[in-house]
Amino acid sequence: MDPVANPYAPGAGRTPAALVGRDRQREAWRVGLDRVERGRTAQPVVLYGLRGVGKTVLLSSFRSAAAARGWVVAQVEAGRGSSGGGASGAGSRASLRGAIGEALHAPLVDLARPSAGRRLLAALRTALSFKASYDTAGTWNFGVDLGDAKGGGADTGVLEADLAKLVRDVSAGAAEEGVGLALLVDEAQDATADELAALCAVAHAAGQQDWPVLVALAGLPSLPRVLAEAKSYAERLFVYERIEQLPPDAAVQALVAPAVAEGVHWTDGAVELVVAATGGYPYFLQQFGQECWNEAEGGTIAHADARVGAARGRAALDDGFFRSRWDRATSAEQAYLRAMAADGDAGSPSGEVAARLGRKVASLGPARASLIAKGLVYAPEHGVVAFTVPGMADFIGRQPAG
Ligand SMILES: Nc1ncnc2c1ncn2[C@@H]1O[C@H](COP(=O)(O)OP(=O)(O)OP(=O)(O)O)[C@@H](O)[C@H]1O
Ligand SMILES: [Mg+2]
Repeated sequence: MDPVANPYAPGAGRTPAALVGRDRQREAWRVGLDRVERGRTAQPVVLYGLRGVGKTVLLSSFRSAAAARGWVVAQVEAGRGSSGGGASGAGSRASLRGAIGEALHAPLVDLARPSAGRRLLAALRTALSFKASYDTAGTWNFGVDLGDAKGGGADTGVLEADLAKLVRDVSAGAAEEGVGLALLVDEAQDATADELAALCAVAHAAGQQDWPVLVALAGLPSLPRVLAEAKSYAERLFVYERIEQLPPDAAVQALVAPAVAEGVHWTDGAVELVVAATGGYPYFLQQFGQECWNEAEGGTIAHADARVGAARGRAALDDGFFRSRWDRATSAEQAYLRAMAADGDAGSPSGEVAARLGRKVASLGPARASLIAKGLVYAPEHGVVAFTVPGMADFIGRQPAG
């Protein structure tokens, strides 16, 4: 069928035509927005799970829900930093400070006007000082005279203090407009220990001091652990939501709903085949759905189309999703991954991996650390390693020995 009309959207962070199976989390977020608008606080949330399960699109749906109510929203990716922001520190790793500052610029510009209330004017001044803390060359012009405004001082260089001041003042300014501030941080496991500690401290202060703020973090399954290492109270601070593959009925909806909207019908057998072949993983459902659609003709996706589509989907994942990760590993790291693959997706004790390679655990530390830094594996618990990508073990099994 017409690829132009193809409604499936495989790819990192691409909004699916039907976002299914996450009603509970979205409803909880909506309740949080309502609570803050009524002067109550809401618990910050952590979304964690494997690659491709839909953390980013869920986080983006949180952003849309907040933005639709006119909230001030900053959605950033840790470890990536801002698109602008100039001198945001040495090296390739941009700071969370710069990312948050830049993300707030546009929403603040939207609110700024000469008739703004004193809290909003203070917020603008504080945002300017925060900007100056990471970008000495650039500045913002809100087109408003801030001469008499309070605020400022978010430029001490101590992230925890500066971020707290920024969030406090911007949320107070937002409250003056009848809304709140939503702070969304994706790939949070890539934040530095300092950055994680600052995020925890801000979320903590927001709850204690009734700031109109909602915080959501998303990241790999290691995120709860790295947060607890950054601040011991993190365990009790956040609501932890594990994001997983979709249950069968939701997986069916992820395939069928986008097609129905285009007047296209999936036969039961075709849906069943694809749901089984994908294990309900959202990324795989989108990829396989796309291939099946392209294969089918005349408004029906039948069993034979699904068979071909599933094979093409698998090949596409092998060539892209899996291959891109595999190729990122050095040959020594690939040997480590191969030794892990014997355990499937469940995870492997590091000692076991070392034994299989005939090596000492300590001598494999650098390979292991590098694989973690590259986001290919994570440590679900002490002394255990697991793949961040579902199906990676099977993929490795299909690779010719190097
Ligand atoms: N609830 C859902 N229903 C249907 N499709 C979904 C759902 N969630 C995610 N997807 C699809 O799955 C793919 C991966 O989503 P997303 O990028 O949000 O995953 P992720 O968990 O953030 O992955 P990563 O860890 O690689 O960043 C996208 O193609 C998206 O459209
Ligand atoms: Mg993501």
